Amino acid sequence: MTAKIIDGKDTAQEIMEGLKPRIGALVKKGIYPGLSVIILGEDPASLSYVKSKGKACEKLGMRSETIMLSEKTTQADLMTVIRNLNANPKVHGILVQLPLPKHIDEDAVLEAIDPEKDVDGFSPINMGRLLAGRDCFKPCTPNGVMELMARHGIDPAGKHAVILGRSNIVGKPMAALLVQKKKGADATVTICHSRTKNIAALTKKADILIAAIGRPEFVKAAMVKKGAVVIDVGINRVEDKAAEKGYRLVGDVDFEAVKDVAKAITPVPGGVGRMTIAMLMLNTVQAAENLSGRNRGL
Ligand SMILES: NC(=O)c1ccc[n+]([C@@H]2O[C@H](COP(=O)([O-])OP(=O)(O)OC[C@H]3O[C@@H](n4cnc5c(N)ncnc54)[C@H](OP(=O)(O)O)[C@@H]3O)[C@@H](O)[C@H]2O)c1
Repeated sequence: MTAKIIDGKDTAQEIMEGLKPRIGALVKKGIYPGLSVIILGEDPASLSYVKSKGKACEKLGMRSETIMLSEKTTQADLMTVIRNLNANPKVHGILVQLPLPKHIDEDAVLEAIDPEKDVDGFSPINMGRLLAGRDCFKPCTPNGVMELMARHGIDPAGKHAVILGRSNIVGKPMAALLVQKKKGADATVTICHSRTKNIAALTKKADILIAAIGRPEFVKAAMVKKGAVVIDVGINRVEDKAAEKGYRLVGDVDFEAVKDVAKAITPVPGGVGRMTIAMLMLNTVQAAENLSGRNRGL
């Protein structure tokens, strides 16, 4: 069996195309959906993600700004930047690129973002709403996975979904989305992490296996049930002297081996990563609509 490759590029493109009329309607009213991204320091991977977000905004004719701050920025200064963005009516989405330097209190930063502009969905208000099954800004990566499955005819209802990773930005919200009592969800969910014993025995039972641990090619063919759907969230840089940049990107799944066991699989790159950006654009357009009076009340 060779798995169907779930193409995140085309699906993300479809979502972006679908946003154009909504953006056009806002622009007619003089509103340009605007995303402000704050980044502290110059981590190359973070800089490259931020660049992709800016490019996507540009492609859609949306306003975007990147606020580049020194790695040594104080908590107080960062809070002032966030408060100013909260108060700026031209800004509809605010995103603070993670991870933050160690001296910054990440919880306080996420809590300071106006929940109506929290397009990453990481503020405790949006996280709480997500868990309660209420309307909210859903975190872009797990929501991108849900959308990818929905658009590729994969219905999680009644399936056993096993998630590798329990981070606040991927693993936990992924579980919250899959377990919702609603169409397109309704899965039975197991979450694994670094203290989980005998991970392979659990992954082997998964109808849907979602890997988000940041360990290059951790999931081997022997860990996957025949006919499972495998979603690879991982993005890892591995040294490759033959590559132009000296590295290449691989996921958390051993793609070449697992594709012969799975029914469907996402590639890295070209899978979930593209969806993350598309969902960020979707949340920003939604925020602009909400804040401009349409669809008020998240
Ligand atoms: N595609 C995208 O757009 C996108 C977006 C975000 C992240 N990512 C990628 O997704 C991956 C995960 O990101 P993250 O931010 O969630 O990472 P993270 O915050 O470092 O969390 C990693 C999680 O994996 C668990 N883990 C680590 N090693 C493990 C092991 N050997 N066995 C079992 N569990 C293990 C950790 O367990 P503990 O909790 O016990 O430490 C933790 O829960 C990374 O490769 C990241 O680059 C991709």
